[in-house]
Amino acid sequence: MNRYALALGGAGLLLSVSVLAATAQVKAPITPPDPPKFDAQGKIDYVGVNDILEFKALPEYHEPDWVTKNFVATGKLPAVKDRLPKEPMVYKKSNTVDGIGVYGDTMRHVIGGRPEGWNYTAGQSQGWGGIDIGLSECLTRTGPLFQIKVDELQPLPNLAKSWEWSEDGHTLTMHLVEGAKWSDGVPFTTADAMFYWNDNVNDPNVTPLNGATPASFGEGTTLKADGDYTLIWTFKEAFPKQYLYQMAYGTFCPGPAHILKPQHPKYSKNTYEQYKNAFPPEYLNIPVMGAWVPVEYRPDDIIVMRRNPYYWKVDEAGNQLPYLNELHYKLSTWADRDVQAVAGSGDFANLEQPEGFVEALKRSASADAPARLEFGPRIIGYSLYPNLSANGWGEPDERGQAVRELNRNEHFRKAITSAVDRKRLGESLVKGPFTTIYPGGIYSGTTYYDKDSTAYYPFDLEGAKAELALAGLKDTDGDGIVNFPAGTAGGKNVEVTLLVNADYQTDKSLADGIVAMMEPLGIRVLLNQVEGKQRDALAQGGQFDWMVLRNQEELTSVVQKTVNLAPVGPKTSWFHRAGKDGQLDLLPFETEIVDVVNKFITTPDATEKKELMKQFQKLYTDNVYGIGLTQYPGALIINKRFANIPKGVPINLFNWAEDSIIRERVFVPADKQGKYELFPETLPGAPGGKEGPAKG
Ligand code: GLA
Ligand code: CA
Repeated sequence: MNRYALALGGAGLLLSVSVLAATAQVKAPITPPDPPKFDAQGKIDYVGVNDILEFKALPEYHEPDWVTKNFVATGKLPAVKDRLPKEPMVYKKSNTVDGIGVYGDTMRHVIGGRPEGWNYTAGQSQGWGGIDIGLSECLTRTGPLFQIKVDELQPLPNLAKSWEWSEDGHTLTMHLVEGAKWSDGVPFTTADAMFYWNDNVNDPNVTPLNGATPASFGEGTTLKADGDYTLIWTFKEAFPKQYLYQMAYGTFCPGPAHILKPQHPKYSKNTYEQYKNAFPPEYLNIPVMGAWVPVEYRPDDIIVMRRNPYYWKVDEAGNQLPYLNELHYKLSTWADRDVQAVAGSGDFANLEQPEGFVEALKRSASADAPARLEFGPRIIGYSLYPNLSANGWGEPDERGQAVRELNRNEHFRKAITSAVDRKRLGESLVKGPFTTIYPGGIYSGTTYYDKDSTAYYPFDLEGAKAELALAGLKDTDGDGIVNFPAGTAGGKNVEVTLLVNADYQTDKSLADGIVAMMEPLGIRVLLNQVEGKQRDALAQGGQFDWMVLRNQEELTSVVQKTVNLAPVGPKTSWFHRAGKDGQLDLLPFETEIVDVVNKFITTPDATEKKELMKQFQKLYTDNVYGIGLTQYPGALIINKRFANIPKGVPINLFNWAEDSIIRERVFVPADKQGKYELFPETLPGAPGGKEGPAKG
């Protein structure tokens, strides 16, 4: 057939020899080989949701002695029982590895990102690495779900302490924790949730940090408040329980309406840009619902956070959490996070850049190493995403638009995938049993993976070239790079820009690999390597031809961030979004994928869910939707002085380990406490205060 396809494709008359060369197509895809064995360490103790926590009043409550002495006794703060909700969240001792903790000490994080500001709600990042996870609390919580028994899997209650579905399944009534307060003592109520929903999620001029849009909660979904503590959701579908996952980090974590709302354009003279930037990193003591409040910021040096005196969670003995008084975020690089955690000058790292694996393993092997290092399953992975929007998203120029059209051509995507030598790519990161080939879609070794539904196009350069010819591309000027067909983008060489996050060595290594592997295929790849903050903005804005992306929870847990699996809404996919007119230009197979994902979201039936994900994986890999590159395990590195680190925590399954370890109940036994607190015996001061934490 290919001879005809070629002729019809307008390739015209060719010399018989090149016709012969071009008649080959890429080899038929195969079922992927099983990944080399890599045993995750750390056995997980599986439990039910109610084994972890409950909401109830306890007979008495406690706090660090210095808080009572310096703040309560002096009249600066109400008594702890009056700062807590009527029924605080109580963590059960039986679910902890080391039991009831003691107060004190610091967790010293190191991050590679830099804070844009504190307006998370309007899309500002704080530099990642768990800093926002520690500030923001959400209606539900998913990080700790790695330890929940499969048949009891559902998000943990959090700011929403309970919920019920109406009989017809279209209404979900949620009850917020009554009497919980922001870190400045102002009550947390439905007003905070409604400000987030009405004036941020539903305001098209605002994009919250993790990209919540109305479609994140389903087409036609509404939310209203009934009094201070009841939220009422209505859904078009019956029982879309999947949206409970969307109400966790980072799509339903309301900011402090009493602080943010007066700056929002609807209630002030501000522009949207001014609203977004109203809380720069220097604005300290921003009220949070999380366990720690930012009290100090020194550019390119450190962010310090102190315990939130109004935190609304306790242990079973009534001790107000967190146990740790302080959190540090040293502003460095991601690679330095690994180095410092291993060396003991930092406390925590998600070891996720394979370039550092061997060294980290070697250094943590000795008995007196300060940190322990535990590998989990292979759930870190990267893909190459072609921008599939031909509808103006990101406003491409003529060349960019021509690349988008190519990206939408199945032959073109098959050519790219077959020109990637995944084995070599993985080995360029690290030698040994770590990396494995990744065809794309759901990761092998996760719940929803089905090998028989996975089409893998092995490395096949000749086949790849043939596919490129079928896409209508040939090198018309003989310089080794194929040209756009005459009449498209001036018939110039096909040059594609690749958006890369320069904050990570792994992203850069993989991008270099792509450049090298596309060259013999006849495609010139130019790197657009920018710092993380800018990468996020360009990716959100659609300003890329291709991008290399470390995948997120939608491809590991599948149930978390599910809406990001496909363009189920105008802004839910990473690489295919609506243009200015709000319209998506879905390819036929994408319409099917969208349909499958929507069904997955709404069906309550576990067997059907499994079946639907098989269909998803087949559609995804048959059509080379995203181009998988490599997948490998990550390791949690944590200083040995910390207690209550759950067994077998994956570094990123339902969320990152900074959430999954439940930091508010992590502690350091008294005899192991270090002298790391920079602001001992102090608490956060007034919002916006630049004077630093209030002194005791
Ligand atoms: C960054 C880091 C991850 C993790 C997340 C948390 O992306 O690379 O390891 O710490 O931040 O948001
Ligand atoms: Ca050329």
